[in-house]
Amino acid sequence: MSKEKKSAKKANYISGKESRKISSENRKITKEFEKKRNRRNIPKEEYMTQMKDSNNVVEFDNLHTYFFTDIGTVKSVNGVSFDIPTGKTVGVVGESGCGKSVTSLSLMQLVQRPQGQIVDGAIRFNTGKDVYDIAKTPNAEMRKLRGNQISMIFQEPMTSLNPVFRIGPQIDEVIELHNKSMSKNEVQTRSVDMLKLVGIANAEGVYKMYPHELSGGMRQRVMIAMALACNPRLIIADEPTTALDVTIQAQILDILRNLKNKINSSIMLITHDLGVIAEMADYVVVMYAGRVIEKGTVAEIFDNPSHPYTIGLMNSKPVVNKVVDRLYSIPGKVPNPVNMPNYCYFKDRCDRCVAACDGAYPGEVKLSDSHVVSCYRYSENKGGEA
Ligand SMILES: Nc1ncnc2c1ncn2[C@@H]1O[C@H](COP(=O)(O)OP(=O)(O)OP(=O)(O)O)[C@@H](O)[C@H]1O
Ligand code: SF4
Ligand SMILES: [Mg+2]
Repeated sequence: MSKEKKSAKKANYISGKESRKISSENRKITKEFEKKRNRRNIPKEEYMTQMKDSNNVVEFDNLHTYFFTDIGTVKSVNGVSFDIPTGKTVGVVGESGCGKSVTSLSLMQLVQRPQGQIVDGAIRFNTGKDVYDIAKTPNAEMRKLRGNQISMIFQEPMTSLNPVFRIGPQIDEVIELHNKSMSKNEVQTRSVDMLKLVGIANAEGVYKMYPHELSGGMRQRVMIAMALACNPRLIIADEPTTALDVTIQAQILDILRNLKNKINSSIMLITHDLGVIAEMADYVVVMYAGRVIEKGTVAEIFDNPSHPYTIGLMNSKPVVNKVVDRLYSIPGKVPNPVNMPNYCYFKDRCDRCVAACDGAYPGEVKLSDSHVVSCYRYSENKGGEA
């Protein structure tokens, strides 16, 4: 075995004794977090707050979400800040494992507890009347926001629909939960209307069907109908079309876009597909290893990608009518999430380093009011080419 391989193996190896020590420490840490969460009568001042900009529906502010695992602390989201303006779509992109889903699950308070915890930062959510810091909002309050003000469309609709119940009652349940004053008839009418709204022709028929009787595309439409049933202020769509074939994908995206305009919701759209982002998003957030490395308007990111990772992503997107031998992929690996370096996380894969890259993790540089990048190439004291 080569020297490098041996040292890599050593770095990843944890003895039983070490692992037991880590789990006992983890238990102490997570117990503290849970104790704080589960207090009774948490005063409102602890979780009610103000937006920095009232035009935003969400402001992620230095969010840190960690998982305390037996092999160490996984810093899945490690200081993420970005805004979702009202009525706009924000696309979140980045390699598998970079923390996109954990960011959105933190916003829904659905991170797997007790091992997963928001350890620092704020997630401000604007209901139009009040502003909650979701990082600190108690479970009972959160239940009122989830599904009502914020709803989520998942990647695989079959796992989110209950196979033993007909479609209609599953949508009714969501509407009933948040509209206690509606009669049964009114609820049913609204469910059928929602099915019509997402382009289901035989809405009354589908209302009485079981999930397995529908195709993947139809199930995803049902999921969207459910997510929109309460006119949420924010829709989180995590890879909403990955499991579908291309034509159905385009139809679903059309539906989402039209609906967003009709009900003036905002969308947080998580996807690997830059084509989807280009078509749907107003703003783009690029994540890498638990951090935002670049953000801007869709035009800024597509016309002027600035971080070497974003430039690599743009090179790796297929172009119609252009013959390529193979798709470009960025060489190298993401650092071990349990043991992040104290310099730029992209450095080991970067082919554009400057002298300053040997220093601490790069701070944010503003390229315009909306375009921000974390990379030494754009800072004043970057030094010469490395
Ligand atoms: N329940 C968990 N326990 C431990 N680690 C977790 C857990 N959930 C997520 N992680 C870790 O958090 C990191 C971020 O995961 P996340 O699911 O947010 O990635 P992602 O960007 O959504 O990736 P993908 O594009 O594959 O969906 C990964 O390193 C993952 O292994
Ligand atoms: S800071 Fe340096 S190493 Fe990191 S992406 Fe920019 S140029 Fe590359
Ligand atoms: Mg994900």
